[in-house]
Amino acid sequence: MHDFLRRLPKAELHLHIEGSLEPELMFSLAERNGIRLPYDSVEEVRAAYDFTDLQSFLDLYYQGMSVLRTAEDFHDLAMDYFRRASDEGVVHVEMHVDPQAHLARGVELPVVMEGLSLARRRAWRELGLSSALILAFLRDRPAEEAMEMLERAAPYWEMLDGVGLDSAEQGNPPEKFVAVFRFARELGIPRVAHAGEEGPPEYIRQALDLLDVCRIDHGVRCLEDPALVARLRDEQVVLTVCPLSNVRLRVVEQMADHPLPQLLEAGLRLTLNSDDPAYFGGGMLANFEACHDAFGWSRETFVALAGNALEAAFMSDERRQALL
Ligand code: HPA
Ligand code: ZN
Repeated sequence: MHDFLRRLPKAELHLHIEGSLEPELMFSLAERNGIRLPYDSVEEVRAAYDFTDLQSFLDLYYQGMSVLRTAEDFHDLAMDYFRRASDEGVVHVEMHVDPQAHLARGVELPVVMEGLSLARRRAWRELGLSSALILAFLRDRPAEEAMEMLERAAPYWEMLDGVGLDSAEQGNPPEKFVAVFRFARELGIPRVAHAGEEGPPEYIRQALDLLDVCRIDHGVRCLEDPALVARLRDEQVVLTVCPLSNVRLRVVEQMADHPLPQLLEAGLRLTLNSDDPAYFGGGMLANFEACHDAFGWSRETFVALAGNALEAAFMSDERRQALL
């Protein structure tokens, strides 16, 4: 099964590129940039990744990205991930990026975009791996700041495949971001949003009704609201589920308790994703394998889930046809 899951062409629709920063690269970038880390070894970093909830993770995630300063750093970050993903049979990666987190520490948008663009072109040429870019708004910061960031991103609108909404969910409902998502819609940019990870089912409804998103990132808490589950099924809304992330952030206690089997049973259009692979114990293959170990799913189930991701991916129809 391991070989089958590795060979299965997989598209990843939910990845935070800053969350792919492995401790080894964190140390080498810290050294290159003369930054002191509050850790003495890679093992110490990994030991610190013992999270109690989303916020406890976000604290280390924002601290970890402090080593990213130059376009070369962003290029190295993304190439490092693309190589690992490609080895795991990933053929397409859609990455969220958090420009506000970089702007807040003095790293300007062109630095981020230049580095990521270069890596994306190289990944396509050297690995045959396609990618998409999702500009994410930090929901725990003011809505006006998100709007300002999207305006500043004008030179890059053309290369955006989507905008997204991430960071601390509780108390930061989608309704806070109606204006900036309306603006993205006017620009013709597709929209996705994290909802129903730690937040209530109501946030999933808001993301659909107020932000007009085409996918829900996570969405696992929809099960608390049967009418919402029926709607997600009827409209075949794609959920980008991240099983190992949910375990590590204690959305569920262990893989055996993960609601994936119920979500599948409910007829929802699911995809499997890694979220922040460097922090949550593995990439796409580890997530697929964890599902196999916990639920004993058949090859057909994995083929269907991988197919959902290819169908819902931001890629040209030509590329999709070549992969399906
Ligand atoms: N959830 C919400 N925001 C995030 C995450 C996540 O798992 N990773 C990076 N930003
Ligand atoms: Zn996420």
